Amino acid sequence: MPATDLPRFDHSPAAWRGPEMAACPERWIWQLAQDQIADLDEASARLDASGRDIVTITAEDAPLPRLAARLAEMKQDLLYGIGFGLIRGVPVEGYGLRRSAIAFWCIGAHLGAAVSQNAKGHVLGHVRDLGFDYAKPSARGYQTAERLPYHCDMGDVVGLLSLRTSRSGGLSSIVSSVALYNAMAERRPDLARVLMQPTYRDRRDEVPEGRKPWYPMPVFNPHGGYLFTHFVRSTIRKAQRFPEVPRIAPEQAEAFDYLDALANGPDLHLDMEFLPGDVQFLCNHTILHSRTKYVDWDEPGRKRHLLRLWLGCPGGPAVPEPYVEFQGLTGEGRPRGILCPGAVLNSPLEAEDGGAGDTAKRLPGAAAVTRAAVPAR
Ligand SMILES: [Fe+2]
Repeated sequence: MPATDLPRFDHSPAAWRGPEMAACPERWIWQLAQDQIADLDEASARLDASGRDIVTITAEDAPLPRLAARLAEMKQDLLYGIGFGLIRGVPVEGYGLRRSAIAFWCIGAHLGAAVSQNAKGHVLGHVRDLGFDYAKPSARGYQTAERLPYHCDMGDVVGLLSLRTSRSGGLSSIVSSVALYNAMAERRPDLARVLMQPTYRDRRDEVPEGRKPWYPMPVFNPHGGYLFTHFVRSTIRKAQRFPEVPRIAPEQAEAFDYLDALANGPDLHLDMEFLPGDVQFLCNHTILHSRTKYVDWDEPGRKRHLLRLWLGCPGGPAVPEPYVEFQGLTGEGRPRGILCPGAVLNSPLEAEDGGAGDTAKRLPGAAAVTRAAVPAR
């Protein structure tokens, strides 16, 4: 029985269904043209040769004249349209790691400003299997080869550049969280209401200054005519290690199960395979993403490797109040990722531990310090 008291988002462009999108790849796949690749060639070669610290590169440094207008459209589509897109054809094999990272960074700079992804201030993340135990409170799924359940990242938009793919598995799967909400509001409004109440989440030992190691936030946050969804079930489960956090109620567990089942069902999600040189962008507010378990190559140099950006996007929708406690906001009012005491924004070109839980040890100086050229956003 549909509930009349719940806000509805039936006509949102973000409320797509996977099979519809699978039938029209031209709607979301952008194959780069030769002249657009030439723009990336020029910008990445010039900025690489200059020795610039990647973190300091802005959109003005990389005008990308034959991509810029299309990237502006893509930004609009990410924030106010279907919420995702895939750019295909960045010549990563020819570029090598640093030039690939610069090209990816330049594309991202046209969509927003990179925000920190972990306690060490990394703004260029490396998604690869570091052999970590996902069961530990501080573990982050992107550093394992395990299947990742449907979840969101931080910032407005998450971007991935595929450098190398695994031997098998590792499919990217996405689902519209607006479509999930609509289905729940229609079929189980009682559970949709449960998910509009605060749920307590674990910061995985990456705690910004003045914050608790956990934070409360609803899964569904209707705000200003826009539906913000944020769901990371592992952080909800891990927050139960804190005695002061309320226990997960049976109706909450049922609602999480229902959400997972809807996302995993055949009607809503969209699977895609990454090729080397693919760049996927997703809006964290309207899309949940997951990845299938994968089997990697034995040779170290062949192993699956993605670069990741989290972007705060000026011009994005005004965020609801719980996001202030959750991530804090940049000077432009955008969610600012994970900004911990002492962290300096930086872009390592090698995968390394994100530093959860021992920031002070790794980064001397208890006060928040930020490289002058890269103010904390
Ligand atoms: Fe993720």
